[in-house]
Amino acid sequence: MNLVSSTKSPGPASKDSYGRTIDYLRISVTDRCNERCLYCMPEGYKGWAQKPEHLTAGELIRSVEAATSLGFRKFRVTGGEPLIRKDIIGILRAIWELPGTQTLGLSTNGTRLAPLAREIKQAGVRSVNVSLDALDVDLYRRITGGDIGAVLAGIEAAREQGFEVIKLNCVLMRGVNEGEYVKLIEFAAERAMPLRFIELMPLTRTDVLDDSNFLSIQELMSRLGGVGALTAIDNYRPGHGPAKYYEFQSDRLPSPARLGFIGAITSPHFCETCNKLRLTADGKLRPCLGRLGEIDLLGSLRAGEDPARAFEEAIANKPENHEFLDRYVPGRPMTAIGG
Ligand code: 5AD
Ligand code: SF4
Repeated sequence: MNLVSSTKSPGPASKDSYGRTIDYLRISVTDRCNERCLYCMPEGYKGWAQKPEHLTAGELIRSVEAATSLGFRKFRVTGGEPLIRKDIIGILRAIWELPGTQTLGLSTNGTRLAPLAREIKQAGVRSVNVSLDALDVDLYRRITGGDIGAVLAGIEAAREQGFEVIKLNCVLMRGVNEGEYVKLIEFAAERAMPLRFIELMPLTRTDVLDDSNFLSIQELMSRLGGVGALTAIDNYRPGHGPAKYYEFQSDRLPSPARLGFIGAITSPHFCETCNKLRLTADGKLRPCLGRLGEIDLLGSLRAGEDPARAFEEAIANKPENHEFLDRYVPGRPMTAIGG
């Protein structure tokens, strides 16, 4: 499949109205998923049944190419679960082959990584993020509806391929996976993989998205202080995301763990270093995960317009910060927006 049309050449970096360089695009290639995470998918979600409007592979690549003409250099493919899309390998390869692409990452639930890790690596993916909220078989199933065995096999397969970075993501949920954090840290440290803890964000409407389930990164950090010592690592930003990294040393660990903390809700300066836009599976550009407001990229593509204009509009409309603390509740689920 030759998806690269090469009508656009890479251009200089773009800045938003607050002086932030916007060079990172998260691309949701599908809103569908083979898991049902408590914090992501509303019970019985059928939204996608009425929505066959996914960007085709060709539209996706034209869009990414337009983004490179505005200075975008870092791309991460996500979902839903990106690996359930049949043409995913061709999409990854085509993004990687664009002259403007500097790094390409993939965020996955890991369930389909084992059979695909090799092709993903060969397609050019540099970094893989795997969601892992629990190691306990039953608890993992309770949180995601899925099989931890497949995910662990996927992580091993990815390690064998030697990706530059493989990170683990764990969403903090009080009363749900609190008993897993130290086990997850041990698991990550044994494999020298960075592990990121993410504050629960009100990204959809499900039972777990309740204040009583919210656990802040500060609380986790002070709990970890009782088990070991955390030391901040400056200037470490694998994958270009918003996590603040620490080295964690403890008698319980064979070697220090690298822990990232994503305080999307409680960190006062969280949005100051935001460098990204999101492209939803149905072709809308989202300047911010925590605010309403989308630009219809697919509509303009299908009307024969230059997709670069939609990116310019999204950058110009990027707000200074999110509205989670003002009780913003999104109009549609995370699975449609793409982590
Ligand atoms: N709050 C916090 N993190 C979330 N993710 C998905 N939904 C939420 C939410 N409501 C995480 C997933 C995945 C990453 C892409 O986003 O766990 O690791
Ligand atoms: Fe699927 Fe990821 Fe949502 Fe879980 S968080 S249901 S794995 S898209």
